[in-house]
Amino acid sequence: MSDRFELIDEFRITVAVHEQIRDLLEECFPESSFTSTRTWLKQLPPRRLLVWEEGELVAQLGVEHRVVRLPDGPGTVLGAIDLCVRGACRGVGLASSMLQWLLELGRTHGIDFVILFAADGRLYARNGFCRPGTRVRWLKIHELDGFGIGDDVLDELMVCELGPRRWPDGPEATVDLLGYQF
Ligand SMILES: CC(C)(COP(=O)(O)OP(=O)(O)OC[C@H]1O[C@@H](n2cnc3c(N)ncnc32)[C@H](O)[C@@H]1OP(=O)(O)O)[C@@H](O)C(=O)NCCC(=O)NCCS
Repeated sequence: MSDRFELIDEFRITVAVHEQIRDLLEECFPESSFTSTRTWLKQLPPRRLLVWEEGELVAQLGVEHRVVRLPDGPGTVLGAIDLCVRGACRGVGLASSMLQWLLELGRTHGIDFVILFAADGRLYARNGFCRPGTRVRWLKIHELDGFGIGDDVLDELMVCELGPRRWPDGPEATVDLLGYQF
């Protein structure tokens, strides 16, 4: 692991570092209003990958860890949430390095899949993710309101298989996320 990379439990993050994360998210997601007051959209991620350069936070990635239900049984996933890199540090492969770091973490620890949700898939496609087009069930949360179970084909879903388990393809197969869609 690069010594600039720090994987930290969310509850260990200090108030000062939370403010740096919020500031980074605000720069990177200017259209999202949550970044003016907090560091998460729907729910806290259990951990984050932080990237530091000369004491400044330059990139972050929320990391979910959970079990999902596939047609052939439970599967373990790491979820990638709100990946972002400061404008001044983009275009030199930092986000790709973070994704590759996460994939390696998953492989090392026998995790079945890394998943994420993205409208623009370029970065993820070149790092080994595909769009399976699977039907998904998830806990719907909007503005701190849990309001039901979603059941739909989510084109934004992108998956990278880490080991022998296969993620099903196509809308006939349903995967239950057993939680919210991050
Ligand atoms: C997307 C982002 C994390 C990429 O960071 P980076 O360190 O520049 O990424 P890399 O250098 O590893 O790869 C760059 C490639 O990412 C792709 N890319 C650029 N912006 C992207 C975006 N918003 N979403 C997906 N892929 C993107 C492009 O293919 C780019 O290569 P190109 O310029 O040759 O076409 C960064 O642009 C960012 O923080 N954007 C704002 C926040 C955001 O949109 N995050 C993604 C949420 S799903």
